[in-house]
Amino acid sequence: MLKVVLCASVLLSMVSYPSVADDHRAEFGYPAGLMSICPGSTKPAVIPKSQLKYLSFVVQGNGRSRQKYSYWNARNIAKDPRINFKRRTLLVAIGYLDSPNLPISAMFANDYEDRGYNVIIVDNQRFATVHYHLATRLMRPVGKHVAEVLVQLTQYGLDPSKLELLGFSLGCHTAGFIAKHFHTMTGRNISTIAALEPSGPCFRNLGPKDRLDASDADFVQVIHTNIDGYGMAAPMGHVDIYVNGGEYQPSDISIYPCTTTCSHFRVLPLWISALKNPRKFIGLKCKDIQQARDSACYSNLPIDTVVMGLGIDKRKRGIFYLATTMEYPFYLGAKGLKEENVYWKKLTDVNSGDETEIYT
Ligand SMILES: *[C@@H]1O[C@H](CO)[C@@H](O)[C@H](O)[C@H]1NC(C)=O
Repeated sequence: MLKVVLCASVLLSMVSYPSVADDHRAEFGYPAGLMSICPGSTKPAVIPKSQLKYLSFVVQGNGRSRQKYSYWNARNIAKDPRINFKRRTLLVAIGYLDSPNLPISAMFANDYEDRGYNVIIVDNQRFATVHYHLATRLMRPVGKHVAEVLVQLTQYGLDPSKLELLGFSLGCHTAGFIAKHFHTMTGRNISTIAALEPSGPCFRNLGPKDRLDASDADFVQVIHTNIDGYGMAAPMGHVDIYVNGGEYQPSDISIYPCTTTCSHFRVLPLWISALKNPRKFIGLKCKDIQQARDSACYSNLPIDTVVMGLGIDKRKRGIFYLATTMEYPFYLGAKGLKEENVYWKKLTDVNSGDETEIYT
């Protein structure tokens, strides 16, 4: 009996060897826990009417001055002297644990204000500052109620073709839900979504209806900086830019790697730099995500490129690799199209020789 079992298991391991080598899940198991699978995350969530007072909108303009309006006050948003719907409008969807009073949305608000945009920051802090798993579900009704306000604003002159959504992390999916609901309610598209590092946990295994997707707006630009950590590998836009391959970012601290949090947040100064340096972040077209991960898109012909940022060519489609330096302002310009500038290939070849270098 023992012999048979032994035999069978030897045979089995021989037979299954090649696939185990390719995909260790058979050996090491499938992800099933709280962060990987997020049990129950597609269950519906509602925000009761009594809680809608916690959904508000911060309008910024006229030299950084701000005014906050509740969900019930769309008319007053339209009448705010900071708003002029002849201009473009930026709507910022904040991330997990974020608030319009924290530096991230302020940084964006200031930059877009200086570019002549109406700036509206969605204050859904109340719903984004709960257990992450619940926050991911609550962003669906948040999206719906924000869309209701936008629909009212269109009656006061907001033109959806001049409306741009900007989200970071969880906020990218919120932006997606806003746009989906706006489309359902009006049959019209919001013009663009710029999605900075859409969050992966609880969304990774969901389909296009339950997360940000290219079908949400006329043009969706997605920047990925930590796809194996807090971010998400799946392409979700018309253009998906995998910065330095999208896995992890180069560190600006010697010998200390830029791990998950560092790589996830790196997208923020990257986007600010792309706003200030509009033609300097040039991405190279890849055949697929694996090519981007491998920094192996340099020999693709014909060469196709995309310029990350507000000036992106909205006719472009596909997966792009973008090389950067390790420090602000990060851009490489045309140098980024040369393979010798791939940062991790430029690092000292830690494992290439026989040295066992000791840092002193
Ligand atoms: C809305 O956007 C989607 C995705 O980009 C696109 O397929 C669709 O044609 C657009 N709809 C309209 C009415 O422009």
